[in-house]
Amino acid sequence: MSSKLIAPSILAADFGNLQRDVEMVNKSEADWFHIDIMDGVFVPNISYGMPVLEAIAKHATKTVDVHLMIIDPDRYIKTFADLGSDILTVHYEACTHLHRTIQAIKAEGMKAGVALNPHTNVNVLEDIINDIDVVLIMSVNPGFGGQSFIENTFNKIKQLKTLIERKEAATKIEIDGGVTDKNAKSLIDAGADILVAGSFVFKSSDQLKTISELKSMIK
Ligand code: DX5
Ligand code: ZN
Repeated sequence: MSSKLIAPSILAADFGNLQRDVEMVNKSEADWFHIDIMDGVFVPNISYGMPVLEAIAKHATKTVDVHLMIIDPDRYIKTFADLGSDILTVHYEACTHLHRTIQAIKAEGMKAGVALNPHTNVNVLEDIINDIDVVLIMSVNPGFGGQSFIENTFNKIKQLKTLIERKEAATKIEIDGGVTDKNAKSLIDAGADILVAGSFVFKSSDQLKTISELKSMIK
């Protein structure tokens, strides 16, 4: 995880041609698959669940980064490991015993991620940052693709970077929501390591070229 990474969000793919879109990401310069799982309770939307993740993971030749927007995620940690998740990210706001949840994710052989909603201050992770592989900063309110980027994200990246350095942690910073060619470079310059991009990639006319351009922008 030394270089800067692009993670296309499959939420914006064409589900009638899912295998084609997965193969496109395999062939592209993208680094990770970003898979959004929503339960209609933690967020006001339902995306897709286990069978779809299983199908994606079966064809994916790159890291499978699963973003759980569900309450009480501990119930499904083993299931998500068995389905092929490499990184499992849970929401801070959905976990009463976050330390236990992170240990359980790692015990299943996955990397552990923690996502923060736009209103959640990064300092809530002060006592646990050294245990977290990836912090996912939501740069939109979770639940939907295609929303506008929240500018305060830049402040949060800087605050998180300061916390990571102060604690001498190896944690990476992932940004999710409203990422485009307009903000990609500034996000990396502010301290981000991984950029999730859904609509910007899948709604473009040449997806391979869009990914390639994003990638060269953040090198
Ligand atoms: C939103 C999801 C995002 C979403 C990003 O709740 O977590 O991963 O797919 O989509 P865009 O890039 O369209 O904002
Ligand atoms: Zn996501």
